[in-house]
Amino acid sequence: MMQTDFAALLAPLTLAGRRLRNRVVHASMTTLMASGGRVSDTLVTYHANRARGGAAMSITEPIGMAHHQARLPRTQAWNDADLEGFRRWADAVESQDCRLIGQIQDAGRGRHTPGRNPAAIGASTLPDDLSWTVPHALTVEEVRALVGEIAASSLRLMRCGFSGVELSCGHGHLFHQFLSPASNRRTDDYGGDRAGRVRFVAELVAAIRALCGVGFIIGLKLPGEDGVPGGIAPAEAAPIAQALTAPRNVDYVCFAQGAHARTLEMHVPDRYGPRLVYMDLIRALRPAVAGLPLMALGRITDPAEAEGILARGEAELIGLGRALVADPAWLDKARRGRTHDIRYCLSCNTCWGTIVAAHLPIACVNNPRVGRGDEVDYWPAPAPVRRRVVVVGAGIAGMEAAWVAAARGHDVTVFGRSPEVGGQARLRALLPGGETITSIYDYQLAAAQRAGARLELGVSTTADDVLALRPDAAILATGATMIRPDWLEGDTDGVVADLRAALPPLVDHTGRQDGTAVIFDMDHTEATYAAAEFLRARFARVVLITPRDTIAVDVQMVTRQGILRRLAEQRIAVVTLSLPRWTASIEDGVLDYTNVYTGEVGRVGDVAFLAYATPRAPNDALAEELRHHGIPVRLVGDCLAPQELLAATASGHAAGETV
Ligand SMILES: Cc1cc2nc3c(=O)[nH]c(=O)nc-3n(C[C@H](O)[C@H](O)[C@H](O)COP(=O)(O)O)c2cc1C
Repeated sequence: MMQTDFAALLAPLTLAGRRLRNRVVHASMTTLMASGGRVSDTLVTYHANRARGGAAMSITEPIGMAHHQARLPRTQAWNDADLEGFRRWADAVESQDCRLIGQIQDAGRGRHTPGRNPAAIGASTLPDDLSWTVPHALTVEEVRALVGEIAASSLRLMRCGFSGVELSCGHGHLFHQFLSPASNRRTDDYGGDRAGRVRFVAELVAAIRALCGVGFIIGLKLPGEDGVPGGIAPAEAAPIAQALTAPRNVDYVCFAQGAHARTLEMHVPDRYGPRLVYMDLIRALRPAVAGLPLMALGRITDPAEAEGILARGEAELIGLGRALVADPAWLDKARRGRTHDIRYCLSCNTCWGTIVAAHLPIACVNNPRVGRGDEVDYWPAPAPVRRRVVVVGAGIAGMEAAWVAAARGHDVTVFGRSPEVGGQARLRALLPGGETITSIYDYQLAAAQRAGARLELGVSTTADDVLALRPDAAILATGATMIRPDWLEGDTDGVVADLRAALPPLVDHTGRQDGTAVIFDMDHTEATYAAAEFLRARFARVVLITPRDTIAVDVQMVTRQGILRRLAEQRIAVVTLSLPRWTASIEDGVLDYTNVYTGEVGRVGDVAFLAYATPRAPNDALAEELRHHGIPVRLVGDCLAPQELLAATASGHAAGETV
């Protein structure tokens, strides 16, 4: 149905003589799904799922293409140890009419975890902007050896059935380090002027082409704007792209942003910025690669947006990273006129956090089944026995449990205190960067209704209400409440509240008022800083007070970069290593705080708003009562253990699957 709605998206294209059935490309995403340096079943399934869901080409995560990469947590193609694995991988994807492209990347001096990388290689002995790792500067002989080794590994991939390779030359990695005047100060053949800086990549492309022939796809992911002073801005990106594509031995190009620097956040643009955020850059750089298929990339989340880019002739391919993690059937659903069934990417970068901060396989807040065999357009199989299930709580965790349980054929009733589903996520949706969170509970609501779950919303639920339904099982998703901090004394109602309770009355209050809004921050997750921005739009000043030595500790790096940048831009003050002190003067708008080590007193005046964001305690009182009556109870989301959104959907989903 409606096939013509996405005519441009569904049009085939040929690259290096190989047919792409449509324009959707899975952009390279590190998954951490390799196992012991080998191709794992999960990694194969992850890519096969994106192929089955409709992608015409899938770019892998970086593959170990040279022996010095042997210890990295990636598959290894520089020797013959896992040929069978690469064949299996290629076969699973290519057999579904999807071209599999291996990514070539080396982080060089780049490192975004604490500490330095003693094994780092680079263009020059200059420090990485994030970790201050100073690399070993590759000698001319080492560069040439690397070119030869990577080209040989590319041939190995080709013989295993891969359709091509992509050189990751952006994001501040090794190739970017050679291309950029900020990190390449060499005076030999691989530095000096622009012709020298591009030589490493140019020779690598030529070597791969010479070994693998004209029928092998070679793509370049190039820096478009790295945001580094003296680095690669569009004025430098254009001639670099021109130089690298002039020999006509590259099959497609895309442009990335950011570098291993304070600008790393730009490479995975998040929900605080606009959608299609790279498009101005892509339009500006298009003439530099005229005649070559260009892949648009960067926060494209919706099929209509993608169709528009192609229809306007701004690009020939659509690269989707996070959108295809969230929903591998993105294209298939669009093709079938089912865009409303897409589980949309939130651009929250939780996926980035899972791999980089938690060192765990990639995961998604809006897709609890990443890499599982039945992930594509998932709808559960019927349960062997139909049971009566009551879900208490209609937030993200409860609704996820409810739709999955109902779709399995259970008789599901959901009790929710608010008149609408979504729970605390609804408040988050009203804060800066929150809009996309609606797509989680919008999907859940539609799925729950489709599956026949009954929703009893706007009711406070007692154990008797649950027992009256004589359930076979109950799922408690009643959330958690912020714990009153120790420094609060006596009756403080009306003076200070938990942040979640304090914000809703301000939602409709859009004018800015005098006075200072203070948040006591013992939370350090993203929502607290979104709240600070929300308050900044309403108060003359905002101050965050935290007992830690810094803020946003529990937020992964790229999101933290954005938080720190915006707080600085908005002049939101941060007081670290401090605890508020409760005194009567707070009634007069004066809040004292003390340094946690020295006891030294500081003061914030003109306080018009004071709230605390603290660890939460589960609201699980119903569990005991229900168990007492013999009802098996499962706790999910914050009610199980107060955590982030990822755990809410994951625990709700698991409960729905197993109840
Ligand atoms: C979790 C995660 C892992 C990524 N891994 C890689 C990678 O290994 N190589 C690469 O070139 N880009 C990587 N990227 C960047 C994506 O390919 C893409 O350029 C970026 O996410 C913007 O596209 P999107 O908005 O469609 O996600 C990664 C991005 C994320 C969020």
